[in-house]
Amino acid sequence: MSRSDWGEVDGKKVYLYTLKNKNGTQVKITNYGGIVTSWVSADKHGKKSDIVLGFADLKSYQASSPYFGATVGRYGNRIAKGKFTLDGKQYTLATNNNQNHLHGGKKGFDKVVWDAAQTDENTPSLTLNYLSKDGEEGYPGNLKVTVKFTLTNDDELQIIYDAETDKATPVNLTNHSYFNLTGDVSNTILDHTLMIYADTYTPVDSTLIPTGELKPVEGTPFDFRQPKKIGRDIGTVPGGYDHNFVLTRRGTSLQMVASLSDSVSGRKVEVYTTEPGVQFYTGNFLDGSLKTSDGKPINKNTGMCLETQHFPDSPNKPNFPTTTLKKGEKYHTETTYKVSVGR
Ligand code: GLA
Repeated sequence: MSRSDWGEVDGKKVYLYTLKNKNGTQVKITNYGGIVTSWVSADKHGKKSDIVLGFADLKSYQASSPYFGATVGRYGNRIAKGKFTLDGKQYTLATNNNQNHLHGGKKGFDKVVWDAAQTDENTPSLTLNYLSKDGEEGYPGNLKVTVKFTLTNDDELQIIYDAETDKATPVNLTNHSYFNLTGDVSNTILDHTLMIYADTYTPVDSTLIPTGELKPVEGTPFDFRQPKKIGRDIGTVPGGYDHNFVLTRRGTSLQMVASLSDSVSGRKVEVYTTEPGVQFYTGNFLDGSLKTSDGKPINKNTGMCLETQHFPDSPNKPNFPTTTLKKGEKYHTETTYKVSVGR
């Protein structure tokens, strides 16, 4: 594993770490925002290219990034109107997505500098630590967060999240990588084939807040229980997919919940998680105004996310699995993205 200087933010040093395994797969992660900036893997012809959207320099992330590759928190996805009640007290969070709170607020975990420690025994890993202070973005409690990234020799990127608080708070951590398995942002992801093990999903209102209902996917464009091209039904989903799927799972252990593939490159990504949900987002807000570092426009649907998570707006939805972390409890979730190539 190597480290290079990447700049400075808030008076803290920012580095870019390169994790490399014995297959030559290379993942780059920065301690600014815990961002996975690049993931270079071989296609079925052995040609290497980057399968995630990202930039080559820190300034581009600071200027404007739709959470490319970022570690998202304290609460991934939306909390309606930035309000919730916990232990009888009402809290108001920063609102940054119309009237709602999104991805931790104005300065979420994707925009802070984390402390980093690297280890490189059998497999390269990077551990990031961040203390989110009581009151940050309106959240209660000092929250100590650790995110550990490991690149295995099976081409898996394992992400392990741990957290502890000194006051009850909602917590929902995720990674916001945008995959494009063709390795070329000139192509959309509409020809990728996706499978999600979910019998139900959480429908949303016009501001993308769940209505609270768990709706069967059967007979809807949200049915990905059999592998299906993303582009097949996307035209019937206003705006495109940006929905939380309720994973059909046995227990709370790490389990495969989704699989994404591209027949042209032969690449496949399997998603394993301990989480109950996944946000499937088809890069609907990308509009070509952002450019890659080599000048290519990043157009609509040129990247897609599978953000493992608890459901959006859980603090206001008593029927959803709880996202409250209490003092003395340990938050622990795991997600693994495994890349392979077939023919
Ligand atoms: C998530 C949200 C989307 C959008 C993206 C970032 O996937 O659900 O609505 O905000 O993040 O652009």
